[in-house]
Amino acid sequence: MLKFKTVRGMRDFLPEEARTLRYVEDAAQKVAELYGFNEIITPTVESYELLAAKSGEEIRSRMFAFRDLGNREVALRPEFTASVARLVATTLRNEPKPLRLFNVGSVYRYDEPQNGRYREFWQSNYELIGTSKPEADAEILMLTDTLMRTVGLKNHAFRIGHIGILRGIFSQEGLSENDQSAIMQLMDKKQYENALTLAAEKGVSEKGVAVLQSLVEFKGNATSKVVERIMNIVKDYEAAVDATDNLAKILDLIRKSGYTLDVTIDAGFARGLEYYTGMIFEVYVYESNLALGGGGRYDRLVELFGSESTPAVGVAHGIDRIMLALQKQQKQCIKNIGGVAIIPTTEGLKPEALRIARMLREAGIPAEAEVMGRKMAKALEAADKRSLDFALIIGEKELKDGAVVIKDLRKREQKIVKIEKIIVTIKNAPHEN
Ligand code: HAM
Repeated sequence: MLKFKTVRGMRDFLPEEARTLRYVEDAAQKVAELYGFNEIITPTVESYELLAAKSGEEIRSRMFAFRDLGNREVALRPEFTASVARLVATTLRNEPKPLRLFNVGSVYRYDEPQNGRYREFWQSNYELIGTSKPEADAEILMLTDTLMRTVGLKNHAFRIGHIGILRGIFSQEGLSENDQSAIMQLMDKKQYENALTLAAEKGVSEKGVAVLQSLVEFKGNATSKVVERIMNIVKDYEAAVDATDNLAKILDLIRKSGYTLDVTIDAGFARGLEYYTGMIFEVYVYESNLALGGGGRYDRLVELFGSESTPAVGVAHGIDRIMLALQKQQKQCIKNIGGVAIIPTTEGLKPEALRIARMLREAGIPAEAEVMGRKMAKALEAADKRSLDFALIIGEKELKDGAVVIKDLRKREQKIVKIEKIIVTIKNAPHEN
């Protein structure tokens, strides 16, 4: 006999989990519509080179990469942004800007499996392309907030930074892009001491290291005082001052629009992906340190794929992690689909059971005809276990009067109803969530 388990890092989604996943996906679709994002579907397999470009060492080294039978070097997508950038640089090149594009689906990273970290996971991904204006950054932050609220999460908070602050300092200190990225990879993993040591080794001055140290240590609620303080720390680095100013504009826009976000500014914050050029952020719930989503501005990725300069900002949400957070916050968030069991009491009534099942489905009511040939008591027990809402018992006696017995499985009540009244009876029954 052959016995198999899922491959390490891969999971089966049982009905309740599958339902929760689709629930979050539906919410993501709805938010996409509300913010004017159009869905696109890009391939799961892309050229390795495309996916590796500016993704950063962390993701590059964890790709499911292989050669296809045509000897092409390909990989399973570890995220959507590179695919979207490819599309914008090619097929959508002449489309009027801004483009608001939305993807949802599975992505693959060879991460070490643990709670909230899988090798196959789902993202909802939004890219706002063709503008460098701070209002676009603000929209992405607001959209993320809307999604967290739409799925029903409480107490979510943002951590926000600006890659231009760090890069501004590194560049003025004369560091190559590669060295900058290596230092920021360490910062992303919160290995700040190693990051500062590497910075010094690569030639950052003592003053520069001290500035970086102050940034790394400094965090605060998004207020103008905190921005002023950062401005003061980086005052001798022109590009870092501009970046801080840009961050302030984004936060100001949100605040003045009356939108309240719970935001902590973390000036020493870096993200693993290398394509970011501006504001970067992650969103969390207080009870966990797993990011539920992350994103930021990337103004040079699209042009790397052959287009003219095309600034962009976007975000991806980790659907699996949102599911985990929901499960923790509200024990059962997604209602069972409910439905109606249809149980004929004799062999000869099977066609009638199938006919009534069809009638219910045509009225949009989920119906499950008894297909195991069980006696009524067993069939009812099974319907109860599956949390169905009603059972219809088709018996000779009632059928003679054109009626059936309807049993409300939640209220434990039953009555006789005419067949033509079944649908109104079910639809008018008070629904519990
Ligand atoms: P990311 O931060 O790499 O960004 O991933 C986004 C989210 O995916 C994370 O915040 C997390 O919720 C989820 N995630 C990441 N790795 C795993 C994992 N191994 N298991 C479960 N969930 C995971 C991006 O992917 C960028 N493409 C976001 C973006 C879009 N930036 C601009 N546009």
